Order: sequence, then structure tokens, then C-alpha cells
Amino acid sequence: MRKLSNILVTGGAGFIGVNFIRYLLGKCAQTSNFKGRIINLDALTYAGNITSLKEINENFEETKYFFEKGDIGDRTLVEKIFEKYAIDTVVHFAAESHVDRSILGPEAFIKTNVLGTFTLLDVARNIWKDADGVLFHHVSTDEVYGSLGETGYFTETTPYDPRSPYSASKASSDHLVMAYYHTYGLPITLSNCSNNYGPFQFPEKLIPLMILNMLEGKALPVYGDGKNIRDWLYVDDHNSAVWNIIQNGKIGEEYNIGGDNEWENIKLLNVLIDIVAKKINKNAETIRSLITYVKDRPGHDRRYAIDCSKIKRELGWKQTVSFEQGLERTVDWYLANTEWINGIRSGEYKRWVEKNYGER
Ligand code: NAD
Ligand code: TYD
Repeated sequence: MRKLSNILVTGGAGFIGVNFIRYLLGKCAQTSNFKGRIINLDALTYAGNITSLKEINENFEETKYFFEKGDIGDRTLVEKIFEKYAIDTVVHFAAESHVDRSILGPEAFIKTNVLGTFTLLDVARNIWKDADGVLFHHVSTDEVYGSLGETGYFTETTPYDPRSPYSASKASSDHLVMAYYHTYGLPITLSNCSNNYGPFQFPEKLIPLMILNMLEGKALPVYGDGKNIRDWLYVDDHNSAVWNIIQNGKIGEEYNIGGDNEWENIKLLNVLIDIVAKKINKNAETIRSLITYVKDRPGHDRRYAIDCSKIKRELGWKQTVSFEQGLERTVDWYLANTEWINGIRSGEYKRWVEKNYGER
């Protein structure tokens, strides 16, 4: 039996991690049926925002929820946390996660995604030894598989072919996770998910960036011809899959998670424009005129598409939020949370964007 009593969530102040902790302790707590404690280890980089967990902190601090600020690559700290909280499960979200940033500065991606993951794995191996009921779950991306042509899907057996420094660093971390399973017998599971969207996503990623630019009347920058394809999944559906794997997944197995929901960027943007226009009572054509085709991202992967039949078949997982519902919820959230947005935009992010892109 898995223990699942003291879960170390890394990167729990980032987009998916925040939603995962809220999924286990917040509104989905009844369905998730989680009874243990969560220890959130996050370095609070530009992408980490602890105010995203305000209610969790107020309701559960020092009972079911604990926050530790720090770097996953800090071995002494990670060992201390394992001992202090008797960690029996790791859910590893912490990463540098944005492709554009990885092109401009790959080093942080190697440090956190490769060396940081190595440190976590190595501490888990040394402290857990042959303990029963422990698990290291690694959260990864479909980008490790590279780029698809017009047809075909990524399956769990698709060879890795990463093309950006981000995806190369994630591929490297996935290989280390598998190596620790095969070589040392560390009990691991691994998931590779498609593009997530939803509340609390940092507004450098496509969907929140476009929503905020629409609200501010700024240009909507579309890379290249706008025909690159991504498969989109609402963040709670990703997290229900992760939670399912942690409880029921087979040790040593990799699971693909996806939305069965492929969209060309430009088509997605047009749908998003229609939703935002309706919500803020503005003419959609006025917003559409903000679309600006800009220089393509170097090495821009053309198409991602996930075959997630394995997790459906073996673990009974399925998506529950339609794209229309999910986009509506997301737009509503960004419209209602100006304080969160202002907090993020006034800090490090704003300075970074201005330095690298000029005003956006
Ligand atoms: P994010 O960038 O929003 O959050 C990352 C979090 O990790 C932040 O809170 C940051 O402070 C923290 N962090 C970064 N470096 C750290 C370090 N050295 N030590 C401790 N904490 C550190 O990322 P996200 O979108 O929430 O993604 C979470 C995970 O899911 C990542 O591993 C990513 O590769 C994976 N993933 C993301 C998507 C997506 O669409 N966003 C899709 C598939 C997989
Ligand atoms: P992004 O959200 O950065 O996710 P990823 O690169 O990990 O898939 O980008 C999603 C898609 O949107 C990708 O094809 C790049 C494109 N894109 C734009 O066209 N304009 C933008 O300003 C951004 C951030 C992304």
C-alpha cells in the first residue's frame, strides 16, 4: 500500500503546483479523498507566487499544509525536509518551464530541471533505501517527444527527440528518473502532459498572455504563421490524472496525459477573442485587429498531439472539462483577479519582459 501521508510537492507555488495543492486541500478535497499532509518546497522564482495559496495557508497552515522556501538543488535543505516531515511521497513539479526563456538563457533550466531533479532523486534514494509504500512522481511534458507532422500521436513508446533547451532539460530529467528506477530500484512514476491552461498561470504563456493583452488593448503577438498546433488540457484535469497515477499507477511506468483537443494557435486565439469580447462587452473585431504576426520562435515545434489511451484504459482517468468551459472559467478568473495580476506584473516579470522584448 502506498503511504501518501507526507507529500513533498516541489514547485507548489507555480501554476500547476498551486492548482494541485488546491485540488487536494481545496474545492476538490472531497473527490480527491486526500487525508495526509502537504509540504510545499518552492524557491519562489519569478514564476512562483505564494499569494496564490492564501486561503490554503490560512486554513491549513501547520496542520495539513507547510511551506518551505528553497531550492530543490540545495541538498542539505532537501535532506532536512525529508527528515523533518518524514516524507513518503514526492510530486515533482518544480522547474523552469517557459520555452522562450530557455532560448534566451538555458543555464537556469539545466540547474533546476536537470541538477535539481538529480538532487531530489538522490536524496530520496539515500533516505528511503528499501522503504515500502514510498513514491517519487515526476511531472513532465509532451515536448520531450519533439515535433509531429500533420498526422500521428505521441505515445509512451515514442522515442525522445527534444528540440528546445527546455524540452532537452526535461528529457534529461525524465531519463534520470528512469535511471534511478532501473539502477537503484527507486519507486517512480512519470507523466508527460500536453499544454495546460487555467487559473494562476503566469502571463508569459499563450492563453493568459493573450487574455491580459486583450484587456489592455495591447498587440496579440502570434509567432510565425500561427499554424503551430498544441493539445490543450484544463489544469484540474491534469492534476486529477497526476493524483490518479500517484494512487494507482504502476511503479516504473510512464503515462501520457492529454486533452484530445488540438488547436492551431490562430484558431484558438480567435475563439478566445470571441469569449473575451462577450464577457467585457466589446466588439470582437476591434480586439481581432490587435493580432500581430511576429518573428517565429527559433526551432518552434510544429505540432504536439498526445495519445492518452493508456491512462484511460489502465487507470480509468478521463478529461472532465470541455475546452469551451475551461476557457470561460479561465477568462472569468483573469477578469476577477486583478490584484494577483498586478502583483505579478509589477515585479521581476515586468522587468524581464521589458529587458528582453521591450514593451509587450
Ligand atoms: P511554473 O513555471 O508556473 O512554476 C514552476 C514553479 O517551480 C515556480 O513556483 C517556481 O518558483 C518553482 N521553482 C523553479 N525553480 C525552482 C527551484 N530550483 N527550486 C524550487 N522551486 C523552483 O510551471 P508550471 O507550468 O506550473 O509547470 C509545472 C511542471 O509541469 C513543470 O515541471 C513543467 O515542466 C510541467 N509541465 C507543464 C506544462 C504546462 O503547460 N505548463 C505542461 C506539461 C508539463
Ligand atoms: P507557450 O504557451 O509558450 O507553450 P509551449 O511553447 O510550451 O507550447 O506557447 C504555446 C504556443 O503559442 C506555441 O506554439 C508558441 C505560441 N505563442 C505565440 O504564438 N505567441 C506568444 O506570445 C506565445 C507566448 C506563444
